[in-house]
Amino acid sequence: MQNYANNVKEFGERHVIALTVTFVAGVGILALRRWMAGGVCRSKARLDGKTVLITGANTGIGKETALDMARRGARVILACRDMTRARIAADEIRQRSGNGNVVVKRLDLASLQSVRDLAKDVQENEERLDILINNAGIMMCPKWETEDGFEMQFGVNHLGHFLLTNCLLDLLKKSTPSRIVVVSSLAHERGRIQFDDINLDKSYSPEKSYRQSKLANVLFCRELAARLQGTGVTVYSLHPGVIRTELGRHFIPTLAMWKKVIIMPFLLLIKSPWEGAQTTIYCAVDESQANTSGLYYSDCALKKPAPQALDDAAAKKLWDLSTSMVGLA
Ligand SMILES: NC(=O)c1ccc[n+]([C@@H]2O[C@H](COP(=O)([O-])OP(=O)(O)OC[C@H]3O[C@@H](n4cnc5c(N)ncnc54)[C@H](OP(=O)(O)O)[C@@H]3O)[C@@H](O)[C@H]2O)c1
Ligand SMILES: *[C@@H]1O[C@H](CO)[C@@H](O)[C@H](O)[C@H]1NC(C)=O
Repeated sequence: MQNYANNVKEFGERHVIALTVTFVAGVGILALRRWMAGGVCRSKARLDGKTVLITGANTGIGKETALDMARRGARVILACRDMTRARIAADEIRQRSGNGNVVVKRLDLASLQSVRDLAKDVQENEERLDILINNAGIMMCPKWETEDGFEMQFGVNHLGHFLLTNCLLDLLKKSTPSRIVVVSSLAHERGRIQFDDINLDKSYSPEKSYRQSKLANVLFCRELAARLQGTGVTVYSLHPGVIRTELGRHFIPTLAMWKKVIIMPFLLLIKSPWEGAQTTIYCAVDESQANTSGLYYSDCALKKPAPQALDDAAAKKLWDLSTSMVGLA
């Protein structure tokens, strides 16, 4: 026994620096991870008898959000472009939530026709729509075009959702109090709306386009809230955190090997999809936000967005431009 204690002491003395470094690094990573974990939605609100539609719900943050809505008892519509992946996700959500009322509908946000078809289906076949969650998104792809010739990130992240929301407004107004949640990003903070080159034909960069589309999300939320004042439909935009999902699929493969190695340790710090869904869920159901509209959230709390996201003239201008681009009279 005495011997053992001595050995431990000797080991400790010899490796004091290494042990200290390991300990401090361990505590540091745990503390950082806790700090990064962000808010959790603590609302116990039930959604029995209510209907929720979520875009891009077959994976990532959207799937996790859909699971939570199903657990609260809602009828959940997963609006996705890949029916095979959507059905697999729906099966999993039904199983894990014990709620059989989870359905899939086809929606490709890169096609205005597809958006109109889905909206028509929902208007004709759903009795109500209590919560619309504009979650789907594409990040930092090459310069691609949507079916209608719009730059892909602006087309999917903003224009597709702009048209979808407008087409579903009547049903949302019939189901008040109802909510619209727009999943934006911290990336909006470095964004600018290039009104004179909205499709970035003159100078495309994957980052610039993503930031523009996410700024458009916050401005859309603001303008829509103003237009819906007094109707009982409230609107929220948010940053979900930095989350381990498939969002990097177009961007990670383009990185050089050494960059991939450098970002590896940071992957440990990245939040899980469950954590990433918390602010969306908060905006969708939390009782404390029932009467607020047009604001931006992060970590289940209000947050001031970047100054260019508070520009009402730009929000109005973007609304008018979007209206004409998607062909809404
Ligand atoms: N992850 C993060 O760190 C982070 C940070 C800030 C903001 N966000 C935002 O969070 C939202 C969800 O992203 P995520 O991280 O969960 O990414 P994800 O795992 O890549 O999921 C994105 C979803 O959007 C769908 N989608 C993409 N293009 C579509 C289209 N044309 N039509 C219909 N659906 C389409 C995808 O469908 P397929 O599977 O068929 O491609 C998928 O279901 C996005 O709006 C993103 O900008 C994420
Ligand atoms: C929201 O407004 C309604 C009606 O005026 C009121 O009953 C309710 O308490 C308000 N909720 C919050 C969280 O302020």
